[in-house]
Amino acid sequence: MQERLKELQAEALAKVEQASDLKELNEIRVSYLGKKGPITEVLKGMGKLSSEERPLMGALANEVRDAISSAIERKHNSLEEAAIQQKLASESIDVTLPGRPVKTGNHHPLTRIVEEIEDLFIGMGYAVAEGPEVEKDYYNFEALNLPKGHPARDMQDSFYITEEVLLRTHTSPVQARTLEKHQGKGPVKIICPGKVYRRDNDDATHSHQFMQIEGLVVDENIRMSDLKGTLEVFAKKMFGEDREIRLRPSFFPFTEPSVEMDITCKICGGKGCSVCKGTGWIEILGAGMVHPNVLEMAGFDSKKYTGFAFGMGPERIAMLKYGIDDIRHFYTNDIRFLKQFSVTE
Ligand code: DAH
Repeated sequence: MQERLKELQAEALAKVEQASDLKELNEIRVSYLGKKGPITEVLKGMGKLSSEERPLMGALANEVRDAISSAIERKHNSLEEAAIQQKLASESIDVTLPGRPVKTGNHHPLTRIVEEIEDLFIGMGYAVAEGPEVEKDYYNFEALNLPKGHPARDMQDSFYITEEVLLRTHTSPVQARTLEKHQGKGPVKIICPGKVYRRDNDDATHSHQFMQIEGLVVDENIRMSDLKGTLEVFAKKMFGEDREIRLRPSFFPFTEPSVEMDITCKICGGKGCSVCKGTGWIEILGAGMVHPNVLEMAGFDSKKYTGFAFGMGPERIAMLKYGIDDIRHFYTNDIRFLKQFSVTE
């Protein structure tokens, strides 16, 4: 019996030594140390032994078991270690390989301009307001002193959805909505960037969808000089300190008086060229003092409150600033065009 146990130990240890993976090792453990294994089988014969021999044989059986299980454990650890090493080797990265450049996207030039303008006005204490692109006729026209049938409605050819609902033709309805929300109490100081839609045929200077940024300030004692000062700061920050501005009389139903602002042409320095059509000046935006009717319709007392408003097209500003000659470039997503405004390349 003693011999048999020794034999089994030697046999098991040899198998453990040769085991090439954890699965095989586990099979060896089950076959030698399990309840149906040969050691248990040998021990079944213990009954036939004398009472002196029995404890000795029991101790030997335990020794054999311990020897086998610790050999299994050692092998287990070394196989595991080998597996880890192999995994590390197979997953190793050659850091000397040249990298593949990652292409990053960029902000669209129009987004950049809009954010630049936003930042400029936020710096002057303005809040950014938004409104719906699908707008009620009331806010797009009526609340801006453009009642139904008003001839000035023709200045903005509109996409109507129903009789009372249309795609907004300008961002001015956000003025009307913001004033209404303030319930007759100033101050109001906002800019509203957003998309607008007009029934225009697309060409180098027209697009059926484009952007506008509206500005509105309403408080007590707001005067034309406040408007002029604000627009001057804007123009110089946007186009350069050397630029001059001028205000020309104009007409918008929602402002009285109304003006258009020009800046001096940078290309000819004011002498007159093809870009400024020989005038030395380039038109930038429309503006004016908020019409008392607009204030009253929104619930403001026009004797107490006055205000100014302005509206500009960021495409036009970007075109002038970057020398872009066709508004359609902003919307056709030609990567060669967009890349020129990339910060990273
Ligand atoms: N909404 C005008 C347009 O689309 C632009 C404009 C002009 C806005 C004068 C104003 C303003 O707020 O005061 O042509």
